[in-house]
Amino acid sequence: MIDYGEAASLLFESTLMLTMSNTVVVTGGAGFIGSNFILQYLMAESAAIVNVDKLTYAGSLINLAPLQGNSRYRFLCGDICDRELIKQVFSEHLPTAVVHFAAESHVDRSIRGPEQFIRTNVQGTFTLLEEAREYLSRLDPQQRDRLRFLHVSTDEVYGSLGEGDSPFTEDSPYAPNSPYAASKASADHLARAYFHTYGLPVVPSNCSNNYGPFQFPEKLIPLVINNALRGDALPVYGDGRNIRAWIFVEDHCNALRSILMAGVPGETYNVGGRSERRNMDVVRAVCAALDEFHSDSKFVPHENLIRFVKDRPGHDYRYAIDPSKIERELGWKSNETFETGIRKTVAWYLSNGGWIEHITSGAYRGWIREQYG
Ligand code: NAD
Ligand code: DAU
Repeated sequence: MIDYGEAASLLFESTLMLTMSNTVVVTGGAGFIGSNFILQYLMAESAAIVNVDKLTYAGSLINLAPLQGNSRYRFLCGDICDRELIKQVFSEHLPTAVVHFAAESHVDRSIRGPEQFIRTNVQGTFTLLEEAREYLSRLDPQQRDRLRFLHVSTDEVYGSLGEGDSPFTEDSPYAPNSPYAASKASADHLARAYFHTYGLPVVPSNCSNNYGPFQFPEKLIPLVINNALRGDALPVYGDGRNIRAWIFVEDHCNALRSILMAGVPGETYNVGGRSERRNMDVVRAVCAALDEFHSDSKFVPHENLIRFVKDRPGHDYRYAIDPSKIERELGWKSNETFETGIRKTVAWYLSNGGWIEHITSGAYRGWIREQYG
């Protein structure tokens, strides 16, 4: 016979035992956006951060070296697919929020090998959501109200726009075209379902192309900077007319902090910097900044290094984000224009040659050979 009185008092006790700590669990915090977020967050806020990162090729602890000895920061090397680890993270740290960045994030890699994208982006997100749900069930109503699960996603889930189409809004239909985009779309759907079914306070955000310090040089802007500094070809896919909407990474991190503070669970926020550019114009802007800041380079004018190469299969033509909702409802606005952000970015890479050296040693060269021949 079940003793309901005893069961209820046990439940009451276990609920009472849980007191949230002022801690945010960040996943994928050793990557590009995650490390910018952690550095910014710890400067601006008083909470502690626990960073769970598997340290794939894309993650690097040197990004977070300034935090050595910081008592509000803790790093845990681990996989978000590891259920036991994630369970332990929740029960040990009793977070008020999860900010979920961890993902395989490069479209070209997803085309060459989609499996890891399904594992991390779908299975890993599912594991986190499951353990967050379990954690939620052990919180009292006040703490449940305080908890947030910030699901960091991308505008690529909305597919590709034509020249005259309106930018993506939160109501745009999903139409992912690459295995990467499809895996992120799957994760978004799971996150949404956990809000609607279990009341997990998920707040999804979908952001456009980020650029700035610590971006791994497989993505267009840091790849072009790195190649230009070495005098290597600057590969432009197809005719270079594809359009992306760019945002400086610090602006994205600011937006995430606003969402964490005032975002409404179950509401999606699109984040973008209102800076659409054709790829050729992006590459030219990088070359111009390099010509100016690195005028004694023997590769000036760097534009001469541009080469058109085979197009990406299924290459989405245009992304554009309408950030009106987050601007209107949360009072967020991007601080950088593309012109100011790109200058800051080029200047950062020029004064952080040691970072590039470290990041591009080893497996990086193998990827470049495989992708560009
Ligand atoms: P990134 O590739 O630079 O970093 C990903 C991080 O996740 C790395 O530190 C890696 O070690 C870690 N990671 C990968 N698999 C893991 C696993 N199984 N367990 C734990 N950690 C793991 O990515 P990013 O550009 O910083 O993007 C971060 C997030 O933001 C991603 O979810 C991405 O989809 C999203 N996003 C990126 C952009 C962009 O332009 N970069 C734009 C919008 C949204
Ligand atoms: O839109 C948000 C997405 O932006 C994020 O979700 C992804 O994680 C992030 O990688 C980025 O995806 P893109 O595919 O748009 O970024 P990437 O830097 O790879 O490419 C930008 C554009 O430049 C794209 O049209 C392809 C083109 N390109 C890219 C590379 C690497 C080139 O022309 N040459 C290149 O060598």
